Amino acid sequence: MSRAKGLKLKYSEITAKADYLNRRKFMAGAAALPLSGGMAMASGLSFSESEYAVDAPTTAFEHASTYNNFYEFGVGKDEPAKYADALTTSPWSVVVDGMVGKPGTYGLEDMYSETDLEERIYRLRCVEGWSMVIPWVGFQLSDFLARVEPEPEAKYVAFETLVRPEEMRGQRGLFQSLDWPYVEGLRLDEAMHPLTLMAVGMYGEVLPNQNGAPLRLVVPWKYGFKSIKSIVRITLTDTRPPTTWNLQAAQEYGFYSNVNPNVDHPRWSQATERVIGGGVLASRRDTELFNGYAEEVASLYSGMDLQKNF
Ligand code: MTE
Repeated sequence: MSRAKGLKLKYSEITAKADYLNRRKFMAGAAALPLSGGMAMASGLSFSESEYAVDAPTTAFEHASTYNNFYEFGVGKDEPAKYADALTTSPWSVVVDGMVGKPGTYGLEDMYSETDLEERIYRLRCVEGWSMVIPWVGFQLSDFLARVEPEPEAKYVAFETLVRPEEMRGQRGLFQSLDWPYVEGLRLDEAMHPLTLMAVGMYGEVLPNQNGAPLRLVVPWKYGFKSIKSIVRITLTDTRPPTTWNLQAAQEYGFYSNVNPNVDHPRWSQATERVIGGGVLASRRDTELFNGYAEEVASLYSGMDLQKNF
């Protein structure tokens, strides 16, 4: 993966939100500069700032791009960074089907041709008990869904990752870690929520392959496994779609998977989280209900038993 070294260092230095906001102006400018050595796509990513930010240090790019879960490239945290370069991400298109007025195959850039890309700094909480703070660049899923016109009967949105064993080494061989494709789903009202983002970049540049290039879902109030990577299909449906980790172990990984410090995983507590790159002193923080986004999203689940619907 090629990346401008200077920018990388800038991010690891960032410790305060105010600092980061200033640097974001710089990044927005930097992204427009011509860069050498196969960076044509990166130089094409232009975006605006947004009101969405977290009052916490941003995770260093080095950590966010080398400590990954992407089983299509292996189950080790270091394997996606090692092997995801093999994935061809351009051209890329997404099939939209099911209960929509405008089904079809949409080219990646076409998906956000009518909306601006924006940067949003979100917390990412993995069900395994670690967390990061990541500046994503993307567009609101609701903008795209409105364009394809969900039918009134549609209640859920299903997502599917690419299956391409030639390039995804975790999909080859006799024993595979998961059933492919990796699939995920949201209720339609969750998908339409303004916080739900389709990311095409992070840290001001095009997504590294290991982070789900070229298109990846980000739902900041849910555990990270809902953030499905390298999406090739979006289906509107009236029935709750199957989801990969729920298929693996339904009693451990629910459909909703809203971040909740009060609902333990059967094998570990979810009350606290290890902050990746936080150092020894600031290494754990208390996990927040809905990952800190309760004010925005709690109403989606009013009247629902969060212990049962985990
Ligand atoms: N998407 C696909 N297709 N395959 C995966 O293995 N892992 C999930 C999610 N999306 C995964 C995926 C999990 S468990 C997490 S925590 C996040 O991606 C990790 O995202 P990151 O590597 O960018 O931190």
